[in-house]
Amino acid sequence: MAGRYKSDLKWSDVTPKHAWMNRRQLIAGSGALALGSIAGPAMASLAAKKTDYGADLEPNDWDAITSYNNFYEFGTDKGDPATYAHALTTDPWTVEIDGLIDNPGSYGMEDILANVTLEERIYRLRCVERWSMVVPWVGFELADLLNRVGVQPSAKYVSFETALRPDEMRGVSQNVIEWPYREGLRLDEAMHPLTIMATGLYDEPMPNQNGAPIRLVVPWKYGYKSIKSVVRISLVDQMPVTAWNTYSPREYGFYSNVNPDRDHPRWSQKFERKVGGGLFAKQIPTQLFNGYEEEVGSLYAGMDLLEDH
Ligand code: MTE
Repeated sequence: MAGRYKSDLKWSDVTPKHAWMNRRQLIAGSGALALGSIAGPAMASLAAKKTDYGADLEPNDWDAITSYNNFYEFGTDKGDPATYAHALTTDPWTVEIDGLIDNPGSYGMEDILANVTLEERIYRLRCVERWSMVVPWVGFELADLLNRVGVQPSAKYVSFETALRPDEMRGVSQNVIEWPYREGLRLDEAMHPLTIMATGLYDEPMPNQNGAPIRLVVPWKYGYKSIKSVVRISLVDQMPVTAWNTYSPREYGFYSNVNPDRDHPRWSQKFERKVGGGLFAKQIPTQLFNGYEEEVGSLYAGMDLLEDH
């Protein structure tokens, strides 16, 4: 994979790799990895649509995005996910969508992707640990999916769960956090147009270490809210239990909006370092809501951002 996305390659030159998602509909049997050979109109329509999101940002390269990861199910070192996440079986994959909705059920990836418009969104990602990246995600708005399953008026929150497969995830034998990894959003946060479910990056299917085949991306919150390899989405009326909040509520609030004015109890959040700049990369000031204040600030009007963190 490394180096496959080169700057001399124009977007339009890249084979629509998202074709793989529909391969079971198109080809009987398995082992169909040579996707370049089955290009066609049906495939092309699955390619990610270019958008203006993050057009001003400088994305990190493929190697940085796919080799420096947090995915504790595969170990706690930054290189563990790239080394061990290949063990995760991502096809077939189903997501249970349940709770306060009209159409609960077990949705296969092909159901989820039917009729969605995959878009490229270049977003900043700010980890609570003070490193950051810029990632060209491929995905679709979570609101599209929620609207399709029919959210009932009593739903107030959305909770998410990662797969828990001890046979494939060597990290879950250690009680780092309480497994499965869980996250949650308020319904209006989940419905916000910036909130996406990502299925790829750099126009490639999502690498396992980044949360294949489908993960949440909420760019104005610390990275841990962006839960990977999602197998359950539940619409609920109570604030859901989340992995990091359970681990240490004082350090990891439910909201976890990026906020340079609220220190983590063990470190300041005023600055960050962009991954890839080497050991002496300069510190850059962290922005409120990770730079997305204009878009999302109104969601938190009247809230004390230091208290309700
Ligand atoms: N999702 C799961 N299931 N397990 C994890 O350990 N780590 C989180 C988040 N999602 C994590 C997860 C953290 S701390 C960050 S910063 C981002 O994933 C990192 O995403 P990336 O590896 O794609 O950059």
